[in-house]
Amino acid sequence: MFVQIILLIFIVFLFLIYTTGKHNENYWKKRGVKLHKKNKVTGLSWDFFTTDKPVFQIIGDLYKEYREEPAVGFGNFLTPSLLVNDATNIQHIFQTDFQSFNHRGFEINEGDHLADNILFMNGNRWKLVRQSMTPIFTSTKLKQMFHIMDKSGRDFITYLKDNPERLYGNAIDSISTFCCAAIGAAVFGVESESVFESPFLDVAKRAMKFSVTMNIKALIMNVFPWLSKKLNFKLFSEHEDFFIGAVKRIIRQREQDKVQKHDFADMCVSLQRNGTLKDRDTGLELEPTDELLSGQAFFFFTAGVDPSAAAIFGCLLELGRNPEHLKKVHNEIDTAFEKLNGNLSYESVMEMEYLEKVLCESLRMWPPIGVLNRQCVADTVLPVGNIKIDKDTKVYAAVYELHHDPKYYPNPEVFDPERFSSTSAQDSNVYMPFGKGNRLCVGMRFARLQVKTGLIHFLRNFTVKTKIDGDRIRFKKDPVQVRPVNVDIEFIWRNI
Ligand code: HEM
Repeated sequence: MFVQIILLIFIVFLFLIYTTGKHNENYWKKRGVKLHKKNKVTGLSWDFFTTDKPVFQIIGDLYKEYREEPAVGFGNFLTPSLLVNDATNIQHIFQTDFQSFNHRGFEINEGDHLADNILFMNGNRWKLVRQSMTPIFTSTKLKQMFHIMDKSGRDFITYLKDNPERLYGNAIDSISTFCCAAIGAAVFGVESESVFESPFLDVAKRAMKFSVTMNIKALIMNVFPWLSKKLNFKLFSEHEDFFIGAVKRIIRQREQDKVQKHDFADMCVSLQRNGTLKDRDTGLELEPTDELLSGQAFFFFTAGVDPSAAAIFGCLLELGRNPEHLKKVHNEIDTAFEKLNGNLSYESVMEMEYLEKVLCESLRMWPPIGVLNRQCVADTVLPVGNIKIDKDTKVYAAVYELHHDPKYYPNPEVFDPERFSSTSAQDSNVYMPFGKGNRLCVGMRFARLQVKTGLIHFLRNFTVKTKIDGDRIRFKKDPVQVRPVNVDIEFIWRNI
């Protein structure tokens, strides 16, 4: 009897797989779109769990195989899923048709306080919280915050002098330590050298470390949101006590101190003082509770450590193997310091044209986030190929592969900052290191300033050499990030 039951379950299972695969095939056939033949049911999730590849490479392989198609469907259980290859369709999704594609494609559960942040929010709640947080990233605010970042850069060089072991063997770790200090100081006004040994860094690192359990949780939340709701999955609950506790203490302290530091903590105090957040268009009201503000701070913090460190690392990786560009950047940085008698100002950073081009080009070659996606919230049509998209369809863009496509960037593996000689090069539909459209990275300007300030201090003091273990660069298996694993940067003190 037992064997018969197992057999029956097995047959039902095979039948479900077959019918789901057929359903996916017919679904895209009706819309004139090819379906990727491999794993018509489990699609890319299967490759992610059974190979060592990061998601950006799995999606990238699909892009390369179907490059000539405006879009290609792939299995994702019963959720219609589409990789969009054509640049006009990409622009349509990320910019033009925001009404239909404003959803991040991920739902978190109620009470998952730290995940309740702008990145994962959707709809009117997202709009209201994003509007409330945007003022912290204006040019005026960044200018006011600059001295904090500059100080973090200087303190970090002193820290490296005192701890020379940090210069060898794990460049990304040292760079992350600087990023943590800079974001910690800018977000919370925490200014002390002890910040380099900060427990915040540990939390930020652990939060971005996608363990097997975390990957499975994220997969279930992505593919079976009803199950994730039933099981009440939470993404970052283990960090709640530490992080919410710290944010509460910082806000209460700031209320008492009555000093203005122009940082996130100031904004929290003023939001709470002004009371309920209100959206005039929709009538939505939201309380700026400690938990809601902690969720935002948590994401700002993690975003300010990992992607920013990856951006600095990508830049140093290229400069460390392209000495002619490194020399030009060194010259530009030295000239700026000499003009201000060894100091740096917000304006002098903004005036560094060559550094700007180098950053744009390294973000092209090494976008820290290799894949972007949206979920359709209202039936619509993609212009190229006239592809009908139903509500709930998930759409993806292979950012890393688009940045490496010779159609858009001739000789894509050559590091050539002059590609960004004209500022309009950044407006290209396929250049999206910070995303595109209304859901563009809200911290982009902050991140650019943080990354440049870090690079300036590193390169003022060091020359760099790139060391690659093996003949090709390999990547960490990760659902979102582009993270080389067999590359290190050697820091060599300069005589200045
Ligand atoms: C070099 C560093 C960074 C990179 C490469 C980066 C990249 C990105 C990307 C690709 C997205 C998705 C955009 C989209 O879907 O169109 C994003 C979203 C976001 N980023 Fe960043 N980011 C960086 C640093 C930061 C920092 C420092 C902060 C905050 C202080 C931040 C805050 C955010 C937020 C809140 C979102 C969600 C925006 C929304 O959904 O409305 N990021 N970022």
